[in-house]
Amino acid sequence: MATERKIKIITAKTSVNIAVIKYWGKEDEKLIIPINDSISGTLDSDDMCTITTVATDSSFTKDQMWLNGEEVDILSNSRLTKCLTELRAKCQDDSMANQKIRIASVNDFPTAAGLASSAAGYAALVYALGHLFGITNKSVLSVYARMGSGSAIRSLDGGFVHWIKGTGTSDTSIAKQIVTHSHWSEMRVLILVVNDAKKETGSTDGMKRSVETSSLLPIRASNVVPERISAMTKAILEKDFNSFAEITMKDSNQFHAIVQDTYPPIRYMNEISWNIITFVHGINSFYGKNVAAYTFDAGPNACIYLLQDALEYFLPLILKYFPFSDYNSQCIRGHSVPESLSTILTSSGQVNLNTQQLRELDHYLLTKISFQVQPVNSLRYIIATKIGKGAEIDSTRSLLDAQGNPIVLK
Ligand code: DP6
Repeated sequence: MATERKIKIITAKTSVNIAVIKYWGKEDEKLIIPINDSISGTLDSDDMCTITTVATDSSFTKDQMWLNGEEVDILSNSRLTKCLTELRAKCQDDSMANQKIRIASVNDFPTAAGLASSAAGYAALVYALGHLFGITNKSVLSVYARMGSGSAIRSLDGGFVHWIKGTGTSDTSIAKQIVTHSHWSEMRVLILVVNDAKKETGSTDGMKRSVETSSLLPIRASNVVPERISAMTKAILEKDFNSFAEITMKDSNQFHAIVQDTYPPIRYMNEISWNIITFVHGINSFYGKNVAAYTFDAGPNACIYLLQDALEYFLPLILKYFPFSDYNSQCIRGHSVPESLSTILTSSGQVNLNTQQLRELDHYLLTKISFQVQPVNSLRYIIATKIGKGAEIDSTRSLLDAQGNPIVLK
């Protein structure tokens, strides 16, 4: 009796990662080997998630891919093709390696927000393909994620992750987890999505130009980053937020100094980004220590690392000083909001500064820092999230049906 043929289908998910020591510049463009080590936190996939399903079967006649429901041409993307080719070459099962593949991938956070979705995308893809081909070790797979997008190497593992630049060969440039997501469970992340539709210089082009023209970049790579990597690793292991925050902010500032030192210069942050910097330093100076840290990637959006307790005063004050025209459920998204918006806002829609601490902080910002309330809707929305687990298999969220056809998303 003929046995029923079963298509092999794997679904993986992961989230974006936010670097606290930035990757900026490649030593080897082709192999995507960085000029310096970097460290990041992987965010929680419950709040920001890329899901990727891969399937293979002898009946498939060509490799196919659907991105957010639209079919895309795999061959037109050389990095994607490289990832696929190299992983296939690693597959021990020859018959499977010769079969065609179908891939479907979605982001459950708006791609228009300018939030690095390619890191999560390539990590989820490589994790799913790895499981299809029998390669499950995250360190081994990280090399293939790197071929898609450098920063993707850090989205396979959860918690805090160190990308080691290596010794010039592809197999030595790998990611290593520093701690899992549960080590510093109080850590929270707010993504302040800044209202700005301007087109930016992409990371790949921007860092190439910096390598070619910035005289600060080699000094950063050789004289600054190695020491910061050790100090940051120590701060994470010891859960020393004050040091963690100082290094995070200084490293973000240095990265943006380098893009400005690039010729012609690049500007990723805008005025609102700078006002967020002033706001964070204002709050930190009130407490006489760092209670929040900002970091900015290749765009104006701020990523704020802070501990759970600090959310209680940080969030209401952000809502007061960066007001929304309509405070609704879309203003703050994610599962890590400490209180419902209704307790932060009064019935007339004003921000409720109802504790002594909040009133004192508010007074300090107004009088000592002269911080002004920003124009309404300077922020598009806020994502409140935390550190997550990294890439996981989740067969409940398959994007391909049992025949390997894309499932139409409602
Ligand atoms: C500013 O990983 O997007 O976010 O390797 O060319 O794909 P490619 O670049 P990409 O660069 C990310 C740069 C950054 C800093 C960081 O994530 O470390």
